[in-house]
Amino acid sequence: MNEQRKGVTRREALALLGGGAALLMAGTAGRPAPVYGQPAYGQPGQLIRNIPATGEGLPAVGLGTAVTFDVGNDPAKRAPLPEVVRQFVAAGGRLIDTAPSYGASEEIIGEIVRSQGLRGKVFLSTKVGASNMAEGLEQLNTSVRLLGEGIDLIEVHNLKDWKNQLARLREWKAAGRIRYLGVTHYTERSLDAMIRVVGQEQLDFIQINYSVREREADAKLLPLCRERGVAVLVNRPFARAGLFRAVRAKPLPAWAAEFDCASWAQFFLKFIVSNPAVTCALPATSNPKHVLDNMGAGLGRQPDAAQRKRMAEYFDAI
Ligand SMILES: NC(=O)c1ccc[n+]([C@@H]2O[C@H](COP(=O)([O-])OP(=O)(O)OC[C@H]3O[C@@H](n4cnc5c(N)ncnc54)[C@H](OP(=O)(O)O)[C@@H]3O)[C@@H](O)[C@H]2O)c1
Repeated sequence: MNEQRKGVTRREALALLGGGAALLMAGTAGRPAPVYGQPAYGQPGQLIRNIPATGEGLPAVGLGTAVTFDVGNDPAKRAPLPEVVRQFVAAGGRLIDTAPSYGASEEIIGEIVRSQGLRGKVFLSTKVGASNMAEGLEQLNTSVRLLGEGIDLIEVHNLKDWKNQLARLREWKAAGRIRYLGVTHYTERSLDAMIRVVGQEQLDFIQINYSVREREADAKLLPLCRERGVAVLVNRPFARAGLFRAVRAKPLPAWAAEFDCASWAQFFLKFIVSNPAVTCALPATSNPKHVLDNMGAGLGRQPDAAQRKRMAEYFDAI
């Protein structure tokens, strides 16, 4: 039987029944033990990963919005975006990632969430990317105005002024204004810096680039996150469409069907979400059909370690 289809564990049952409180009691040093590798299948069958800090379940395929929702006031470019979100949620998606630096993205996400009655149903993740405390506060206040009070997750964007901004986020979390905090970056060059921060700070989340092409995080950062109980969001899962360009005209290998993979997008995403250290991948799209394709990566069998190795070798040989 596939490991992912086993029943819920006692810890997961506790999380479902009693949420974070039960897990806090079960954990050590005031922090629950990490929960990994036991995704539950709920309606409509999406792969679920648990946030180590609380045990809260999160569908492993999320939605990025960096370029795709940064469309200004262009009505033609705005037109498909409500449908992108509607399809995402209908397919079982929950985490939507945005940032103050993504132009109109926060405003558009806020509007769509309000108009579709999704507040409290989706998990909103945004960032603070400021060079000083005054600028940071202005950004946070704007995010709250656009997205609403009680944003689920705010991360320090690209480690900018991270000590100060993280201290502010801790205050906001303690005051109940956000539920989780973390830090992000998007280049392999930044991995050493991320390793240092994860090693010295208690974080709920990090966000990094990781894909079948950029696998450097496998060496140290992802194992460290498992050890420290840090949730991992994955940005640039398609290397901003670069992966599609790399495989253009190449057929999907027949063996991809062994883990229920029907497209290159699913190949790239299943490579990421099948890694037990990964909590949620953040593919961005402005196309409702692509959302459904991407959400398919959270369904069915996932590649095991040997299959992931084969995927990486196949991609490297292209
Ligand atoms: N420092 C940071 O914190 C940081 C940095 C970078 C990114 N991020 C986050 O990570 C998210 C994802 O990264 P990204 O936006 O750079 O790029 P990405 O998700 O790697 O790639 C997006 C591109 O892939 C295309 N695409 C999506 N689904 C597809 C499908 N099923 N078939 C074919 N093409 C498809 C999209 O075009 P279509 O619109 O035509 O589908 C778009 O051009 C961002 O949106 C942002 O939320 C965070």
